Amino acid sequence: MLNFNFQNTTHIHFGSKQIQVLSTEIPLKAKVLVVYGGGSIKSNGVYDQVVDALSNHTWFEFSGIEPNPTYDTLMKAQAIIEKHNIDYILAVGGGSVIDGAKFIAAAAHYQGEDPWNILAKQEPVTKAVPLGAVLTLPATGSESNGNSVVTRDGNKLPFSSPLVRPLFAVLDPNVTLSLSDRQISNGVVDAFVHIIEQYLTYDVNGKVQDRFSEGLLQTLIEEGPKALQPETKEDVDVRANIMWSATMALNGLIGAGVPQDWSTHMIGHELTGAFNIDHARTLSIVLPAVMKVRKEQKRAKLLQYAKRVWQVESGDENERIDQAIKLTEQFFIQMQVPTRLSDVDISESDIDLLIARLESHGMIALGEQGDISLAISRKILTQAL
Ligand code: NZQ
Ligand code: ZN
Repeated sequence: MLNFNFQNTTHIHFGSKQIQVLSTEIPLKAKVLVVYGGGSIKSNGVYDQVVDALSNHTWFEFSGIEPNPTYDTLMKAQAIIEKHNIDYILAVGGGSVIDGAKFIAAAAHYQGEDPWNILAKQEPVTKAVPLGAVLTLPATGSESNGNSVVTRDGNKLPFSSPLVRPLFAVLDPNVTLSLSDRQISNGVVDAFVHIIEQYLTYDVNGKVQDRFSEGLLQTLIEEGPKALQPETKEDVDVRANIMWSATMALNGLIGAGVPQDWSTHMIGHELTGAFNIDHARTLSIVLPAVMKVRKEQKRAKLLQYAKRVWQVESGDENERIDQAIKLTEQFFIQMQVPTRLSDVDISESDIDLLIARLESHGMIALGEQGDISLAISRKILTQAL
């Protein structure tokens, strides 16, 4: 196992009616900015629950954070923060709203030239407005990690800081019942790929991390399709298991002390930046190709994945690996997400643009060994056609 330090300070409030804890979690003297997206929280009752819980607080609101939040939209919040001396941010929504709130929180105390440099130049965050989150879409893990992804002019870039990790997160699975099938699928697939990025690397004998990861993958394989089937989709227990799996997938626990890949995500971000494809749908296209192109480097873990996650035990090594990749693709198809670039109308002639963008974003040495060069990323994209 590799050396690691691990601390997750986000206080999780999980279950029915937990939104009411906002009344005590946020200090009464705080000046709160409630940030949200395009309005789903107004039609599913979440907004009303938040308003009720904040009835004794002083609060303002900022809405319109779009999926794959943009710098231009997020910077508009700065005027409200200044005008009302905001000293607490409450994000109510999915990963985009929470990521957006993190950037707003960091930009509010940014001292340099342009807050975009937090992403473009990876300038460290030295201070941020404290924030909490009410999660409405289980997927990203943003509710209890320090990561954020923001887009400017088609450039989709990540930053990370413990200062933007939510102080608390409310996870009520009931609020996910209003999600469309597309968003449920996206969430399950995103969480699945987060686990894979931290698991399917090379073996360092991290038994705890491996078995946690395998348990989470199996939970998503079992519960994900149930959230799409008419007989089981309203089952709050199904939603609860998906929600907790997605949080656990990217709260730092399973990634501590093991190598991490993230090449699928970095290549996927270019597909979203250039062609506006949903985040999870870029992952379901890129991951099977990564598994195929990186078969030798990932051989031992692919065999472990085949055996422990998919119970594939017959055939020679290559057959078992191929079968595990096939089952992964079948799971994605069952979850109604694309597995090929051609499924989203992207062809060979688009690959040059994607490679150029990877290069301009410095994504030239990806993967757990830093050995996925642009030439190998090209192979992966070609494999995904
Ligand atoms: O904007 P509203 O009206 O709220 O609608 C949203 C949005 O249209 C809707 N929605 C959310 N909760 C709902 C709901 N609709 C009905 N009922 C509910 N309960 O769903 C749509 C998509 O929301 P979004 O927040 O964009 O989805 P997701 O949670 O998948 O977040 C995706 C973003 O997170 C980033 C992605 O790159 C992408 O920008 N990621 C963040 C990570 C992190 N912070 O650690 C890691 C991930 O790998 C990912 O990169
Ligand atoms: Zn993701």
